[in-house]
Amino acid sequence: MTNVTFQEKTKVVVVGTGDKAHGLARMYELHSKKDGHYKLVFTEPMPTKMIDSFDSDHVTIEHFPECLANADIVVILIPSYAMESFLIQNYTLLKEGCVLVDATNPTGTKDLRDTLAALNIKSDDWVKAFNDTGAIQEMQSSLKDKMKLTTSVCGPSDRCVKEIVALAKFLGYSPTVIPIDQYESLQSSQDSIGWEWIHGTTVMILLFALSFTYVTVQVSGRPNFQWYTLLARHSSKMFAWTAVWGFALSLLPGTTIRLLKQATYMDTTPRFLIWGCSIRKHVGLLSLYFVLLHACMMLLIFGGEYFGFLIDDGYMAWNDEASMLTAVLSLSLFIITGIASLPSVGHEMNKAQFMLVFGPVVWSALTLGLMHVMFLGVPSWTETPRSRYSWARGMPPVTLMASVLPLLVMFIKTVQVCHASSLKVKNYVVSRRHQVSSIHASDHLFVIDEVEEGV
Ligand code: HEM
Repeated sequence: MTNVTFQEKTKVVVVGTGDKAHGLARMYELHSKKDGHYKLVFTEPMPTKMIDSFDSDHVTIEHFPECLANADIVVILIPSYAMESFLIQNYTLLKEGCVLVDATNPTGTKDLRDTLAALNIKSDDWVKAFNDTGAIQEMQSSLKDKMKLTTSVCGPSDRCVKEIVALAKFLGYSPTVIPIDQYESLQSSQDSIGWEWIHGTTVMILLFALSFTYVTVQVSGRPNFQWYTLLARHSSKMFAWTAVWGFALSLLPGTTIRLLKQATYMDTTPRFLIWGCSIRKHVGLLSLYFVLLHACMMLLIFGGEYFGFLIDDGYMAWNDEASMLTAVLSLSLFIITGIASLPSVGHEMNKAQFMLVFGPVVWSALTLGLMHVMFLGVPSWTETPRSRYSWARGMPPVTLMASVLPLLVMFIKTVQVCHASSLKVKNYVVSRRHQVSSIHASDHLFVIDEVEEGV
C-alpha cells in the first residue's frame, strides 16, 4: 500500500473569484480533512472578503490558466457571457476525461451545454451542479447549521455525475441526482423565482382582475358614486374577494384528490390536480397578502362616515359584531398557517403538528372568514325590495359573489369527510365480521386503511 500523496488527490480547479468561489472555499474549509481525497485549487486574485474571511493558507491558489493542467474537475464560476471565450482559449489545456462543472445561472446567454454544442465540441464530460445554492448561504455556512445545503446534479455521463455527487458530499452538500431529461428545470435556478411562484402569481392576478372588473362595474352603478372611492373604500372589497377565493382555491386540489381516491380508488392523479397541489402554498401565501391588505384598509377607514350602514346610534347589530369577531379569528388563524408554511418553521414541525395546522386550523380559518362575510352580507342577499347599493345595476352583491367558491369548496370537503367516515364505519363492520368468522383480512381493508390516512 502506498500513502496517499498530493498528486493522487483529485484536483478540483475552481475558475472564478467572485462570491460563489468564496462560498465553495468556505465549504471546503469547513469540511476538508488533511488526508481528504480532494485538492481544491482557486485562481488568482482570490481576495479575502468581509463576510468570508477564508483562510488562504488552507486553500490552494494558483495561476490561471496553468492551474488547469492535470485538473480532474473544473468548476466554472465565471459570468456565463465569458463561457465561450473561456472554452475557446482553454479547452485544449484540459486533460482527457476532465469533468467540467457548470455552476452558472445564465440569463439570456448560453450555458456550458449550449456553448459546447455551439463550438461543436462533442463531449459528455460535463455536469450542471452548485448553481442552485446561494453564494451568501455558502459563505455564512457553519458546522453548527442543522440543515445541509442541497444541490441538484445533472449531466449526460453517469461517471461524471457520480464524481460530482461524491465531491458535493465531501464539501458538505446534500446532492440530488436529476435525470438529464429534466435538465431545463435547473438551468438557471438562482435567476428565476420558480414556476410555482409564477403560476401562483398569475392565478392571483387573474382573480384580482375578475374582482376588480366586477366590483368596479357594480359599485359604479350605485347612487352618488364617486370614482375616487375605488382607491380605498372599494379596493378593499377587491382585495377581500381575491383573498377568499385564493384561500378556497388553495384547498381545492388536495380535497379533490382525496375524494377521487376514496370514491374511485384511482391510482393515478390527474396532472392539473398535481399542478394545483404544487402551487397551493404559493396561492395561499399570496391570498394572505391580499387579506392583510383588506384588513389594513378596513381598519384605516372604518368609521361612521363610510360604514354608517353598520352602525346604528353608535352601535352595531349582533350580526355585524359577530362578523368582526369572526374576521379577526379568521385572520389570526390564516397568519398562523402562513407562519407554518415558512420552510424554517415547517421543517421543525412533526407530522401531527403539520396535519393540525394544514387540516383543522386552515379549514377553520376559511370557515370563520366565510362567516365574517355572511354575517355582513346575507341580510342583503335576501331582502326585498333589493337595495340599490348592494344590488347596484341588478348585479348580485360582492359578499354573495365572494362566498360562492368558498361555499363550493367547503361543500366538497364536507362530502369527502362524510364519505371517508362512512368508509371507516364500513371498515369497522367488515373487520368485526371477519374477526367473528376468523376470515383473514382482505385486500379491501388495505384500501380503506389508505383512505383513513387521508381524512
Ligand atoms: C381585521 C380583520 C378584518 C376586518 C376589520 C374586516 C372588515 C370588513 C368590513 C368592515 C367589511 C365590509 C366592507 C363593505 O361592506 O364594504 C368586510 C368585508 C369583507 N371581508 Fe373582511 N375584515 C377582516 C378580515 C377578513 C378576512 C380574514 C377575510 C377572509 C378570509 C375577509 C373577507 C371579507 C370579504 C370577502 C368581504 C366582502 C367584500 C365586501 O363586500 O366588502 N375579511 N370586511
